[in-house]
Amino acid sequence: MSIMEKRPIIQVRDLQARYGEKLILDGISFDVYEREILAVLGESGCGKSTLMKHMVGLIEPAGGEVIIDGERITGAEEETYRRILRKMGVLFQGGALFSSLTLAENVALPIQEYTDLPDQAVNALVRFKLGMMKLDGYEHFFP
Ligand SMILES: Nc1ncnc2c1ncn2[C@@H]1O[C@H](COP(=O)(O)OP(=O)(O)OP(=O)(O)O)[C@@H](O)[C@H]1O
Ligand SMILES: [Mg+2]
Repeated sequence: MSIMEKRPIIQVRDLQARYGEKLILDGISFDVYEREILAVLGESGCGKSTLMKHMVGLIEPAGGEVIIDGERITGAEEETYRRILRKMGVLFQGGALFSSLTLAENVALPIQEYTDLPDQAVNALVRFKLGMMKLDGYEHFFP
């Protein structure tokens, strides 16, 4: 692997997480590199979801920092944070799609929200993305 490919995308540095007085995570540090897949395992209540919420900046850490693609999200300005957020995708355990929207409408929503593309281009992108998932033909189905 060349040095160019060894770029940390997610850096967690000495993270400390608390809910009130209760210390949940302490001294957590790791890097996730481009193309690397990291799984976090542990018993119920050990702090996996808490770690994830810190990694996407939903919760400010009690200590330490989270760096995404070279930029600190910890204590970041709203504008910086919003820009970094657009590089992330978070899939929740349940309710990942809007059940009242079709598959095509679900895929179109973030594109309409974040670009000024005309409808025709949005529709082409939607067809392309659904095709990648072998879901062509299911555009008008609900999740
Ligand atoms: N909002 C909160 N306020 C107070 N305590 C919380 C809060 N959220 C989680 N906790 C506590 O923090 C600890 C870690 O919870 P967390 O949800 O991160 O665990 P988990 O590893 O994701 O568990 P599971 O496997 O059940 O999803 C638990 O003791 C939990 O009760
Ligand atoms: Mg959890």
